[in-house]
Amino acid sequence: MCGIVGYVGSKAAAPLLIAGLKRLEYRGYDSAGVSLLNGGAQVQTRKAKGKIAMLEEAVGGSPVTGTTGIAHTRWATHGPPNECNAHPHHDCTDEIAVVHNGIIENYSTLRKRLIEKGHTFRSETDTEVLAHLIEEAFDGNLEDAVMDALRLVEGTYGIAVLSTRDPGKIVAARKGSPLLIGVGEGEYFVASDVAAILQYTREVIYLDDGEVAVVTTDGYSVCDLKARPVGKGISRIEWDLDQIEKGGYDHFMLKEIFEQPQTIENTMRGRLVVEEGYAKLGGLNITREELQNIDNMIITACGTSWHSGLIGELMIEEYARIRVETEYASEFRYRNPIVDPNTLCVVISQSGETADTLAAMREAKERGARTLGLVNVVGSTIAREDDGGVYLLAGPEIGVASTKAFTSQVVALALLMLTFARRRDMSASRGREIAQAMVKLPEQIQEILEDAPTIEIIAEQFKDATNFLYLGRGYNFPVALEGALKLKEISYIHAEGYPAAEMKHGPIALIDENMPVVFIAPHDSVFEKIVSNIQEVKARGGRSIVITSRDEPALEGLIDFEIRIPETLEMLYPILTVIPLQLLSYYIAAKRGLDVDQPRNLAKSVTVE
Ligand code: G6P
Repeated sequence: MCGIVGYVGSKAAAPLLIAGLKRLEYRGYDSAGVSLLNGGAQVQTRKAKGKIAMLEEAVGGSPVTGTTGIAHTRWATHGPPNECNAHPHHDCTDEIAVVHNGIIENYSTLRKRLIEKGHTFRSETDTEVLAHLIEEAFDGNLEDAVMDALRLVEGTYGIAVLSTRDPGKIVAARKGSPLLIGVGEGEYFVASDVAAILQYTREVIYLDDGEVAVVTTDGYSVCDLKARPVGKGISRIEWDLDQIEKGGYDHFMLKEIFEQPQTIENTMRGRLVVEEGYAKLGGLNITREELQNIDNMIITACGTSWHSGLIGELMIEEYARIRVETEYASEFRYRNPIVDPNTLCVVISQSGETADTLAAMREAKERGARTLGLVNVVGSTIAREDDGGVYLLAGPEIGVASTKAFTSQVVALALLMLTFARRRDMSASRGREIAQAMVKLPEQIQEILEDAPTIEIIAEQFKDATNFLYLGRGYNFPVALEGALKLKEISYIHAEGYPAAEMKHGPIALIDENMPVVFIAPHDSVFEKIVSNIQEVKARGGRSIVITSRDEPALEGLIDFEIRIPETLEMLYPILTVIPLQLLSYYIAAKRGLDVDQPRNLAKSVTVE
């Protein structure tokens, strides 16, 4: 997804900006660019298609100087990824440069109007209209021109703008796309993501929708689109830079898989009250009475977060006895859902910025539901707009394919379930049993991770497969979906997740010796049923990889590969069974020589519809 970095200070801006862009590489992008002011009449811009290294080459070949600059990584939405469509974009006279995240929805009307007025466009992007609108409105002061331009714009944006005609200044504005200001000593930054500037400062100001910031070497100011000043507090970032780096692993994804004993511990810490079998969730912002009145829940999310939502639904229905519907955010936002004041809408998002999820949350709110965000990124839009929330506390997740956020989401949902169930009819002893099992999970994940070499051997066997089937039942059906998604995302192997018993209604036709079938079959209440499905696969020559939790005579001679996991409660198995699946897809993708952390066509945070 697109990323923005800007710098105003006394240092050479280009190396700082490029270093900042590199920190944003994990977001996924297809081209990059940088613009600087050097006291001349024109903005100096360099762009390149592909990786930041290409941009560095372009800057090396034709250096840019100056202490004020903006930079961008682009993930194409309008116009293909190429140098011309890369940001920054200029006005007609190259005096203004704009970087933009988001989509200008009325760009074609604006573009037509600007062309009629004599403006010349050089790219196919929606962003370029902003540069020309600012040019039209410019009357000596950049922020006024930016505000005038933005009043004409429909859609979403996080922008940073500079101009040779009002030098030493960056104007930034936000609507629907994250943006923050970094406060240094005698220097200021603008960024779409804190990772870009963390090596320079930990003090940040998060902009809210409808706000415009002006940043110069003397300081910053924030106002609304009508130029009325807005007071903003400074937040301190506690994440360390080395938390954002690979920490000795070949890929971020592998590092993040191995972090899970720690990250789920962080999600539980200070919240799980084991002896009393309940959870203390400080951010719910809900009275006891309101909590009691909730009689239905909607869980909404996208991708991996949606899979955790499906597990949450099973837990909450089983133990809290509240009706739950889990829905793709992209579907929820465009239908006419039944929501009432006793509906709790649980919104799950690692990034807290996914456009569909955010829109679904706003829709639920609009219809009177109380919203609760399960979000990892602190200060993200969903986290700021929800009525209450539970931070996942999993630390930055950089690999595009989500791993540690997923397990933290399931843990957070278990905590939420305990909060609700214990206020209803769950006994303290049942609550305690669940809490005690949760406390063991970090160690149990560690045990599975120590078996990574076995999973790597299995990956070697199957790395050239072209199709995979993942089957699970009950709590492990969503894990089958997640296992298949992980494989698709990073190895580009076609994979499908199915409820195991549904196999006979279609997918069984696909089974032959070339179709590996992964069974998620821990020893739970549906284990016996799954054994029959394994037999059906065996009878058709299929090869099976079975994740199971104890020695089982029924499996003897039936399976090709076994991955053993420790035993836990039925509702907690997904937190364990997903780990081998994450490792399996990781090793298969790595063995295929693929870009595990930035798979093709995918983005970490999808801030467009
Ligand atoms: C993208 C990512 C997925 C992620 C989904 C939802 O598609 O590639 O890994 O699960 O967005 O993201 P969120 O940040 O809302 O959890």
